Formats: sequence, structure tokens, C-alpha cells
Amino acid sequence: MARAGLINALPKAELHIHIEGSLEPSLMLDLATRNNVSLPFSSREEVLAAYQFDQLQDFLNLYYQGMSVLRSRVDFRDLATAYLARAAADNVKHVEIFFDPQGHLPRGVAFDDVLGGLNDALDDAARNLGISGHLIMCFLRHLDEVDAERMLDLALAHKDRIIGIGLDSSELGHPPRKFKNVFRRARDQGFHLVAHAGEEGPPDYVWEAIEILGVDRIDHGNRALEDRELVLRIARDKIPLTVCPLSNLRLCVIDDMREHPIRRMLEAGLIATVNSDDPAYFGGYVNENFQALDTALDLTDDEVIALARNSFEAAFIAPDEKARALARLAEAAG
Ligand code: HPA
Ligand code: ZN
Repeated sequence: MARAGLINALPKAELHIHIEGSLEPSLMLDLATRNNVSLPFSSREEVLAAYQFDQLQDFLNLYYQGMSVLRSRVDFRDLATAYLARAAADNVKHVEIFFDPQGHLPRGVAFDDVLGGLNDALDDAARNLGISGHLIMCFLRHLDEVDAERMLDLALAHKDRIIGIGLDSSELGHPPRKFKNVFRRARDQGFHLVAHAGEEGPPDYVWEAIEILGVDRIDHGNRALEDRELVLRIARDKIPLTVCPLSNLRLCVIDDMREHPIRRMLEAGLIATVNSDDPAYFGGYVNENFQALDTALDLTDDEVIALARNSFEAAFIAPDEKARALARLAEAAG
């Protein structure tokens, strides 16, 4: 086991968090009441009892239902405020938050309300909690590229607050190449690029994310380990992986935490990071993800420190900010 208290003490960045996946059952029920939205649940216990997943799609069905309670700018502010307080309690100092506008616009929610509410919360957190943060807008990959192009048009007016573009939702059957043109335009517009790949999808999808989309990071990437040449490429190009252990367990990407590939990733020289993905659905925020790995794999102090260091190495922050964060981390590591 890593030294007691080390996980809590280390400053960390979180780079793979879907803000809609941080919607805790109690806030979901409160917002349903506030906005007069009907849900098939009447208590927190009923919500939690429904969270049994055999695969990604089982989760996604509940995730889209859950986010239906989000309607106004203040709802998005309340959602992100709750997440940021939780992250701060885990000593998270920097966050890069995914949001899914295509999950909200069809209900008549304005893009500016989604973005405005999330930015209100980020501004408060910067002032009150000392956390910095950016937004990464994700395209839902089960929708077509034309729809993603429309989202990119909307994002262009907010380039000061959206640092990157990502790709999420149902992976199988929706390979990265489907979004080749919109990712190229996003790159030309100066956005950082990330994509979920290799969670359920095969190593070929990770290749496509790298070679066709030109991503700066891979979200998940577990199945990249099935392809030796791919692992060498990810290591050579220093493409970080944002790994989500409790998500992997709850979505049956692994059968047991003792099988988690995080150590193999580090041993292969990959910049692996630890993240919560959808903490309200998968049972833990960042520190709980570190703890679950430590309990199952008996992490060394050096492994825990390397994972925290990787989170800042992989972050979309300026070199001087990165250097300061790494210096504070080294101090906390003792
Ligand atoms: N995978 C794909 N899409 C998602 C996820 C995930 O883990 N979480 C929220 N949307
Ligand atoms: Zn994810």
C-alpha cells in the first residue's frame, strides 16, 4: 500500500470528468422538482439501485435520462459547483471538464446557458477554492458529423472558455474516422483534441484517434495494450491516457480491480492518469479511484506520485503553470 495519507496529500489534476456524470442522485431529484421533470425514481436509494451496468450503453441510457433534469443556467452552475467542491476536497488543483451540449440542446436548453452556468461555477471555484479549470466540449459519436459541425460552429464564439474538443458516447460502431473533417476544422481553429477510444472499441479505434483525428490525449485507451506497436507509438509520441478505474470496473471493461492495467501502462512508459469519468454513477471521485487501485494492486509511493505527476504533465496548461504545479507536487510528495 502507498504511504497512509499520500493520495490525499498530493495535488492532482482531473482530466476526464463528464460534468453530467457528476450529477449526484440527491441533486438529480432536487432539479427534477425545481424544473417539473418526471423521473422513474422517487428516492436516492431507487436511483442508486438502478445503477447496475453490463456495458457502456447500459450506463449511457441512464446518463441521458439523468441529465434531462438540467434546464437553466443556474442548474448547470449548481451541478458544476457541487463537482468542484468535491474535487477540491480531494486536493484536485486543476480540472478539464467535459460537457455534452448535444445532450441538452434537443430539450430547448440554450448553448449559452450550458456554457454560462459551467463558467459561473469555474469562476467561483477559481476565486474561492483555488482550482483552475477549462472546458472540453464533446461530440456525441452516435450522432452524425453534420451535427458535430453545428456544435463546433457554436463553440467558435466561446474559444476563450473552451480549450478543447472531445468525442464520447457509444463507442462500438462509431469509429473516430466518422469525425475526421470536424476534428480537422477544430484543430485549424486552435482547439486541443481528445477522444474516447479503446474503452470498448478495438485498438484500431485508438490508431484512428491518433492518426486520423490527431488527438493530443486518449480518453481511456485500455484496449491499446492489446497492440504492441500501438503501445510503442503512444509511448514514443507521449500521448497521455486518461484512465478511469472505477468506471472500468462498473462498465465491465475489467472484471476485477486486480486486473486493472494501470501498472502495465506505467511500465510501458505511458503517461497514464487517474480520473473519475462519471463519479456519481461509478461510486467515487479522484481519490477513491486512486484508493481502489492501491487496495487492489498495492501501489508503491512512487507509482502514486508518478500518476499524480502525469496528471499535470498531461494537462492543457502553460509551461510556467505546469512547472509550478510540479514543484508543489514534489514538495507534497516529501
Ligand atoms: N464513455 C463514453 N461516453 C461517455 C462516458 C464513457 O465512459 N461517460 C460519459 N459519456
Ligand atoms: Zn468518459
